[in-house]
Amino acid sequence: MAAQRRSAELEQQVMEDPGRFRVLTGDRPTGPLHLGHYFGTLANRVRLQRAGVEVFLVIADYQVITDRDTVGDVRGNVRELLLDYLAAGIVPRGGTGSGSGPGSGSTGATIFTHSAVPALNQLVLPFLSLISVAELQRNPTVKAEAAAAGGRALSGLLLTYPVHQAADILFCGADLVPVGQDQLPHLEATRLIARRFNERYGSGHAVLSEPEALLSAALLLGTDGAKMSKSAGNAIPLRASEDGTARLIRSAKTDAERRITYEPTRRPEVSNLLLTAALCTHGTPEAIAEAIGDGGAGALKRLVVEAVNEHLRPLRARRRELSDADDHLRDVLAAGDAAAKDVADRTLRTVHEAMGMTY
Ligand code: TRP
Repeated sequence: MAAQRRSAELEQQVMEDPGRFRVLTGDRPTGPLHLGHYFGTLANRVRLQRAGVEVFLVIADYQVITDRDTVGDVRGNVRELLLDYLAAGIVPRGGTGSGSGPGSGSTGATIFTHSAVPALNQLVLPFLSLISVAELQRNPTVKAEAAAAGGRALSGLLLTYPVHQAADILFCGADLVPVGQDQLPHLEATRLIARRFNERYGSGHAVLSEPEALLSAALLLGTDGAKMSKSAGNAIPLRASEDGTARLIRSAKTDAERRITYEPTRRPEVSNLLLTAALCTHGTPEAIAEAIGDGGAGALKRLVVEAVNEHLRPLRARRRELSDADDHLRDVLAAGDAAAKDVADRTLRTVHEAMGMTY
């Protein structure tokens, strides 16, 4: 697939010259992150940052209410997300004194919430004029979420959230967005908006740059064999205790065959457990299957419990330490919000200038 090939090319360029790239990605604060998030994107973000790529992380608080009525415990969930990021190894832009001027980008990741960056949200207004209702209604991600929202009426926010997400990406001039296959339509919408803005207002030059997708790796399934998700109750939260993790893995669905083999299509549940162990131990699922042989699902699960708990032990220890450091967490978010605000103010000014809205 073309997106995959392009992604591999970009990956190569990133490794050659990481300082050239800025990545933006993020999560909705709807609960703590799980193992699927970790191997799907979080570990990748940490890797990119360590390589020298500048990282922006949006805690997408306004996106929480795209497919539900209220924000829930948004304050607690923002905190949990922040803890997961930092425990996983994201190095944040420092608290007080780190500055946010030019050249300070390499000081750490800019972690911010939507609601703290007014200029980002204001970009949504001109952007909305660049896309039609029909285009938004055709967006596969909007359709999927509307269907998953259980028959409740499509809200204006859900319909327009690809545009909001475009603002997340375009406000900071991110050139790379690590996404799963399912989020590719959003990136297309973002590119479309940037392109149309430039056509209408750029008088021949690119005011907004078109970002590209960096496709993320392996997708882990939940303990029931379906997509791992917070709401499905089939996820292993990063912050779970070792006993809790063992309980979740022991309850995972398997099949009746005693011999353990790695066959993702024919035996998705068993293969998913093997993949989990492989990711945690940097081995291959085939070799792990071979080693278990006729040991059956019991032996497989014991091995997975051990692998997951061992792999997450340092992360969990850091998470416990950080969870007592309220002042630090507040500083990290304040520094990220302030830096994002500066960047967004500048972009909004550029957008206003391009549109002739300077009076
Ligand atoms: N939609 C993403 C999610 O549900 C979160 C998100 C918000 C995001 N803005 C973004 C991801 C911009 C990538 C780029 O998890």
